Amino acid sequence: MNVYDSSRIADMLKKEGYEETAKQTDADIVLFNTCHIREKAAEKLFSDLGRAHIIQQEREEQFGKSTIIGVVGCVVQAEDTQIIKRAPFVDFAVGPLMYHTIPDILKRIIRQKNHTSYVNTDFPAVSKFDFLPENESQGACSYLAIQEGCNNFCTYCVVPYTRGVEYSRPVAEVLQEARRLVDTGTLEINLLGQNVNSYHGEDENGKERNLAYLLRRVAEIDGLKRLRYTTSYPADMNDDLISCYKDMDILMPYLHLPIQSGSDKILKAMNRRHNSADYLRIVEKLFKANPKIGMSSDFIVGFPGETDADFQATLDVVNQVKYIQAFSFKYSRRPGTPAAVMDNQIEEKVKKQRLEILQNLLFSYQDKFNQACVGKVMPVLFDQKGRHKGQLIGRTPYMQNLHAEINDDNINKIVNVKVTQATTNSLSGKEV
Ligand code: 5AD
Ligand code: SF4
Repeated sequence: MNVYDSSRIADMLKKEGYEETAKQTDADIVLFNTCHIREKAAEKLFSDLGRAHIIQQEREEQFGKSTIIGVVGCVVQAEDTQIIKRAPFVDFAVGPLMYHTIPDILKRIIRQKNHTSYVNTDFPAVSKFDFLPENESQGACSYLAIQEGCNNFCTYCVVPYTRGVEYSRPVAEVLQEARRLVDTGTLEINLLGQNVNSYHGEDENGKERNLAYLLRRVAEIDGLKRLRYTTSYPADMNDDLISCYKDMDILMPYLHLPIQSGSDKILKAMNRRHNSADYLRIVEKLFKANPKIGMSSDFIVGFPGETDADFQATLDVVNQVKYIQAFSFKYSRRPGTPAAVMDNQIEEKVKKQRLEILQNLLFSYQDKFNQACVGKVMPVLFDQKGRHKGQLIGRTPYMQNLHAEINDDNINKIVNVKVTQATTNSLSGKEV
């Protein structure tokens, strides 16, 4: 979502006449888009800001040039004016729902030489999407936000506080943005939302529509080759949506469906609206709709109160689903969330051990899946140049990175490739 937001901010600033620089030292304006999901992500901002401050001072001393430093995103929403207290050299800070105001803020700052720092963490009544200019494709693969915010309030998570309540963009607006992406070179669209499968936007007649409906409408766009969506909440994985995997070839057979934990006790403490049996039933239905689906998930280890038996239940789910890819994290205590004040917090040492065990198991399945691809022919969307000359990097339907020695003309094309080699993290192949 932050990649998407950053590209929309860039679209907006380009329209105002700004250009991107290759080096930070050349920039008159430096913007940081930030994540507050775990402590590590949030702390990164302050070390990045420290470095930016040094560059700001050097540019002033050596060249008499001023540098505007701005911060956007969820850290701003959570820290509010504390950001300016910790980093007084920051000129402005806006939350993730207010970034459409950046051009106006910049104009104001540039006009007033000795301005005070400006902070805006409003949850606006009118969606920011109404104010953003037309988007540009982000390359052959583009993100498109269709939903933002979350009403689930998992007890560990800051999202409902930083991104606010759920909002779904209207169907017509999504279709317009998707068409524009395809017209400017996109072949693959990844529809985004913190809780994307609870999408409930209005159609052209004011009727509320679900994600399955939206997928079928977006799929009709001429020139679009691949469709994905992320991230889904298990309890919102309805039959309509599952049935899309039966007949929609454009919908990639890869689903990121976070379970977080395999223990019902922990899932309850996390305030998730599913238990492990519910989750496994959904996965079974998905495999029935399309046996070729590859599953992915997020996991948290060391949530307060997690025993060895609870952790074993998570490993059991991994062994049943055999994820082809996954993201796993140590539980991170986030200020203001209910889990942060639970009294049965888990020691760092235990969290670390459990994460290592879980990741080894997850990697073993990922590796097995990648090895099983060797010898197969897969359609690969090449969208990047490789490190070596004559090499391109692309994505398989399963989001695996694939390297191939192939002519440059194939960039931004889907090419059939025979997989010749596999590691845990990537594939190599030859054009067939
Ligand atoms: N600690 C660790 N991981 C977290 N996530 C969300 N909040 C936390 C937290 N406090 C993880 C969840 C979520 C992913 C985006 O980040 O697994 O699905
Ligand atoms: Fe956070 Fe996802 Fe839970 Fe919403 S559903 S509170 S975004 S973890």
